[in-house]
Amino acid sequence: MTKKQIDTLPTRRLGELEVPAIGFGAMVLSPGMYGEIDDDRALNALRHAFDHGAAFVDTSDGYGADGHNERLVGRALKGRREQITVATKFGFRIPEGAEAHTFPVGFAFGELAVNAEPRYVRGYAEASLRNLGTDVIDLYYPHFPDPQVPIEDTVGAVAELVEDGLVRHLGLSNVTADQLRRAHAVHPVQAVQAEWSMWRPVDADLLAVARELGVGVVAWSPLGAGFLTGTVRSVRDGDFRRNNPRFADANLAANNDAYTALRAIAADLGITQGQLALAWLLHQAPDVVPIPGSRTPAHIEENLQAAHIGLHPDTLARIDEVLARLEPAGGTLLGGNA
Ligand SMILES: NC(=O)c1ccc[n+]([C@@H]2O[C@H](COP(=O)([O-])OP(=O)(O)OC[C@H]3O[C@@H](n4cnc5c(N)ncnc54)[C@H](OP(=O)(O)O)[C@@H]3O)[C@@H](O)[C@H]2O)c1
Repeated sequence: MTKKQIDTLPTRRLGELEVPAIGFGAMVLSPGMYGEIDDDRALNALRHAFDHGAAFVDTSDGYGADGHNERLVGRALKGRREQITVATKFGFRIPEGAEAHTFPVGFAFGELAVNAEPRYVRGYAEASLRNLGTDVIDLYYPHFPDPQVPIEDTVGAVAELVEDGLVRHLGLSNVTADQLRRAHAVHPVQAVQAEWSMWRPVDADLLAVARELGVGVVAWSPLGAGFLTGTVRSVRDGDFRRNNPRFADANLAANNDAYTALRAIAADLGITQGQLALAWLLHQAPDVVPIPGSRTPAHIEENLQAAHIGLHPDTLARIDEVLARLEPAGGTLLGGNA
């Protein structure tokens, strides 16, 4: 594959937005998410991703301490803001004195807390704009629906930001099909973000409603938080995946054994297992955009090359046959990571 092919990625539509077929998820670049990382390495990764065509970056005010992840993205955007579509999310950085609205997830720590009351949304956006060093957010999502606030109310507040020019487009993250429909009735939704990968099927109802409404799908953790690359043998303390039962030592070993069939398919095609995972996702629908994250320039290039890989229908059938037989050890998470 030539460098030119890597730099010019095919594009896809997320509603009205046109973005590269594979974006870049920046969560991995803040300490405490996937272990230690320093800002130099993080910035280098972001710039490498942008240089190689990942002109769609996903962050959140909740990644890293005090907007750390957004501030990193802001630094990497300097001088190239117009070329990059910037997506961020809100709800986890609950202001002092505001209530924490908790909800259960399948992680070891049990629950997460958000506050997406309309009265706080403008403040969240203003803080993100400062962190990102920009005057407009291209795609703005509530990170999780607030269990105590109707989704209509939260997105109504985002609609005001669109009207005032602080935000270009509304997205939703970790919602049900019903919440997507209700939100879209208040303000057009351009993209819905959901965990979707070879070991995490997307909710079929959500997909059907997204399709019906012309809403694009952003697939988060498209490499199964690294597992689907076939290279994760253990996760250390300080790595957020320690909380995920699928990465507990015994489960991880069992999962690695079970998923070797995918390695064989990738090897037959002369691609990596991670590339197979991303190419498979791109073949599931014309409007899905995976946002893999990585700290490692070689991995970033490898991932972006997957946008050029065509999979024959026989290969897709072979993959689906394998996936239908597999049940990941460690159960199913509600809402997955943050
Ligand atoms: N909406 C939500 O609630 C939500 C939740 C989770 C994530 N997200 C978004 O989705 C993005 C991606 O998710 P994620 O980071 O959890 O998972 P991911 O992209 O599935 O996996 C990231 C992991 O894979 C490894 N990796 C990446 N490319 C690789 C390659 N080619 N070979 C070997 N290892 C490779 C990375 O390690 P190296 O650094 O060593 O490459 C990192 O540990 C996040 O950045 C975030 O923007 C959203």
